[in-house]
Amino acid sequence: AFVVGENCIKCKYTDCVAVCPVDAFFEGPNFLAISPDICIDCGLCEPECPAQAIFQEDKLPAGQEDFTALNAELATLWPNIREVKAPPADADQWNGVPDKLHLLAL
Ligand code: SF4
Ligand code: F3S
Repeated sequence: AFVVGENCIKCKYTDCVAVCPVDAFFEGPNFLAISPDICIDCGLCEPECPAQAIFQEDKLPAGQEDFTALNAELATLWPNIREVKAPPADADQWNGVPDKLHLLAL
């Protein structure tokens, strides 16, 4: 499956949900997660993310390996999101900031 990585945290642009043919995205307060049970590996979402936060599971950046399990878990806890919405007002300021995992809101 494809996986949402760390740079989505506090960016949450949601462009990704517009292109997913199977509605595999689930929405938390400041992050989106992909359900590995729903994702069909089409790859359409990866280039759509302005934060370049989406990766094929086996191509996650070093140090982000835990995001595979994190996506799987959070996708079971959060509601499905199918419509693009406005990102947080300060999304651009957080784009590219390292070590955001501790800021993930559940
Ligand atoms: Fe949806 Fe395709 Fe992205 Fe999987 S890879 S989350 S199916 S757009
Ligand atoms: Fe997150 Fe990128 Fe989607 S920032 S909400 S994965 S477009």
